[in-house]
Amino acid sequence: MKKIILLGYMGSGKSTTAEWLSHQMNLQWLDLDQVIEKKTGTSISNLFQTKGEIFFRKLEHETLRALITNDEGFVLSLGGGTPCYANNHEFLKSNDVVSFYLKTSIDELHARLLPEKQTRPLIAQMDDAQMKEFIAISLFERSYFYHHATHTIVTDGKSPETVALEIRKILV
Ligand code: S3P
Repeated sequence: MKKIILLGYMGSGKSTTAEWLSHQMNLQWLDLDQVIEKKTGTSISNLFQTKGEIFFRKLEHETLRALITNDEGFVLSLGGGTPCYANNHEFLKSNDVVSFYLKTSIDELHARLLPEKQTRPLIAQMDDAQMKEFIAISLFERSYFYHHATHTIVTDGKSPETVALEIRKILV
């Protein structure tokens, strides 16, 4: 069954775009963070606080493996760090998987993340300048992994609907 995976930095629009795309493709939408929250009965922020990032990354890896190896089709939005840990980028080469990197500039990510940073454990404690530097550095480090996606879609200035339509055109 077809497995469509959206990846990219926090704030790149993965979840909203995946939801739109799933409607357009008549496939179920899964969000990896939400699957983990359901499985553990707690929020990602709380998992980071109580169990730490390494615990979260292991759980993230196992949850992704289970989704990739089962037979269901879906549109799946990953967490921003997912492809960059535990060789998860290797899953992007699996049979039936088509993946899309939603590529967003540092300035746009900064602007999109500012109003919602409290819900993002990696940046919640940072001031604006620290946040921008963190985005720039981690985006640079992560882009090697993000570019393992089958396709790259630039999302600056685009709504999730527009990005979903662009992806749909590539898939048909
Ligand atoms: C993370 C991104 C988050 C979530 C966790 C770690 C990251 O997902 O998985 O807070 O390392 O970039 P979103 O990209 O959906 O916010």
